[in-house]
Amino acid sequence: MTPVPMVGRAAELAELVRRWSQVRQGGPTPAAVVSITGAAGIGKSRLVASALAAFSPAPDAVLYGVARLHTPAPYDWLAAVLSGRDTHDLPVPADGLAWLAQDPHAPSERYAPGALLRLAVRTVRALVGAGPAVLVVEDLHALDPASLNLVGELAAAPDLPALLLVTSRPPDAADSPELVARTLARLSGARGAIRQHLGPLGPAEVAEVVTQVHGAIPEHLAGAVCERTGGNPYWLVELLAATAGRGPQALLDEPLPGHLRPAAAPEPAELTAREQEVLRCLAAGMSNKQMARTLDISIRTVAVHVSNLLRKTGSASRTEAALWAVRRG
Ligand SMILES: Nc1ncnc2c1ncn2[C@@H]1O[C@H](COP(=O)(O)OP(=O)(O)OP(=O)(O)O)[C@@H](O)[C@H]1O
Ligand SMILES: [Mg+2]
Repeated sequence: MTPVPMVGRAAELAELVRRWSQVRQGGPTPAAVVSITGAAGIGKSRLVASALAAFSPAPDAVLYGVARLHTPAPYDWLAAVLSGRDTHDLPVPADGLAWLAQDPHAPSERYAPGALLRLAVRTVRALVGAGPAVLVVEDLHALDPASLNLVGELAAAPDLPALLLVTSRPPDAADSPELVARTLARLSGARGAIRQHLGPLGPAEVAEVVTQVHGAIPEHLAGAVCERTGGNPYWLVELLAATAGRGPQALLDEPLPGHLRPAAAPEPAELTAREQEVLRCLAAGMSNKQMARTLDISIRTVAVHVSNLLRKTGSASRTEAALWAVRRG
């Protein structure tokens, strides 16, 4: 299915575009900070993608990093930004860069945490250059403590010609809720910072999405689909995909994924054999790295299994998935 155009979120998008033009015009000296929060699948990444496409003139540089592993590594955000970039010209010592980029051949001599943080800020400043740039921090809730600290520093860094866009699920969905809450508070406290909390789509917006696929539909059907999916665009898109090629009535007949079913009638989520193994390891408290070693698969593959089973079990975090496993024996 081709992705449906973004519906709703017009006010949020307009605000982001306005922020960008302020930054472009040499506006606020500390980076302009926007935190976009909301539940899983509510449309945070989609809003950021739409904003990046709408920024005009386009940013000279976009530093985009997303938490890549479920086991957070230090400075994972920056490592994601650096991956695939030519870093030869950066005015940062090569061994420091190797650490920041999580280069497996980084020299064994470690940096003191404070020194590494300063190097990380210097690296970002060098990448931003004269700017203006957009720094995108996706999935703050899944980032490691060092990255969280770095993002907090960047939000307050003087003379950084950049717009800092951060997305995050609510802190209670994070592995370290307190740290994430503190970082979000720190971001909101930055000068001129704004917070956008995304709620579910309303029935009219859900109808707009469904119409893209099925043509005009009766109002009651839009209302029912809105209710079934909780107005969550992710679940809406999933439902549309699961019923592709069938008439609109299928939107009501299709069984819902476990996550959305009323708690009174839980159906076992269908995990593949591999996902079950991963879940067992997870319940045993293993890190992704340990699982990779135990199951003899790559860390990336582990990350994919973990993310699938979080979705299938309707868990917001590894801890929740582990509890789910324990509850089911
Ligand atoms: N406003 C919207 N209109 C149409 N489709 C949308 C909208 N928002 C999100 N979607 C679609 O819903 C799905 C989930 O959106 P997205 O990935 O942006 O959620 P998210 O909040 O970033 O979730 P996560 O917390 O898992 O990162 C995507 O397929 C996206 O294209
Ligand atoms: Mg996202």
